[in-house]
Amino acid sequence: MGEPPPWLWDLPLINLYNTDVIGFMYDVPFVATPEVVVRRMLQLARVQPGEVVYDLGSGDGRIVIIAAKEFGARSYGVEIRKDLYEQSMARIKDMGLADRATIINASFYDVPLTDADVVTMYLLTSVNERLRPKLEKELRPATRVVTHDFEVPGWRPVVVEEVYEDWRSHKLYLYKIPGREIPLPGKPVTVEDRWLRQVAELIDGNRSLEEIAGKLGVPIRRVREAVEQLSKIGAVEEVKIIK
Ligand SMILES: C[S@@+](CC[C@H](N)C(=O)[O-])C[C@H]1O[C@@H](n2cnc3c(N)ncnc32)[C@H](O)[C@@H]1O
Repeated sequence: MGEPPPWLWDLPLINLYNTDVIGFMYDVPFVATPEVVVRRMLQLARVQPGEVVYDLGSGDGRIVIIAAKEFGARSYGVEIRKDLYEQSMARIKDMGLADRATIINASFYDVPLTDADVVTMYLLTSVNERLRPKLEKELRPATRVVTHDFEVPGWRPVVVEEVYEDWRSHKLYLYKIPGREIPLPGKPVTVEDRWLRQVAELIDGNRSLEEIAGKLGVPIRRVREAVEQLSKIGAVEEVKIIK
């Protein structure tokens, strides 16, 4: 669906942020996740410093901001509404987070998610269902997806949790993209760098990136980056993906 006409934002006497007046025009209206619930979503996903987090339909940007400010993530929001995009981008700049947090003014169906470590969504079950093929195609094994109140039909959650906030409860679903990424050893190469050597020593053609990350106590992203460097010098032949 296209952009609403600009005059719609100026209509008097209607709080556009809290009604469905605008929301009905898109897939989902803007309703914010309470901050205490946002923190729990990011904790459930175990967001690590340096990881890439996407919030699909980012509203006022609170998930993006908290992920960057409190969890040290590189965070992206995707928001179709121009007013919310501008408002959240202004807040990010005011808070000095622009080097770590960004809002993309687009439809989440159109934004590639291939570099995500964590995806958060407070949408609707029907929208989650429509997004599912894209998520399955683009997200790498071991990527975590956390949804607020609405399930992804056909996926089995790893954790379902109820969080109470004031007068209402919020249901959180944590999913993990199945599959394993297994780096295969390449030709013997002397590696000077200590960190790269540590990773190279654990590459045996059986261990996945996730297992190596677990052994080294670092986010998968760091191991993936090391493996990319090892591939360039031939120490890793390829990364086999078993879904
Ligand atoms: C329920 S709100 C969630 C806001 C925020 N993620 C949070 O949890 O506080 C859903 C948001 O998705 C946005 N939205 C709806 N359809 C969209 C689409 N196709 N692409 C990007 N954003 C969309 C809405 O404008 C709204 O801001």
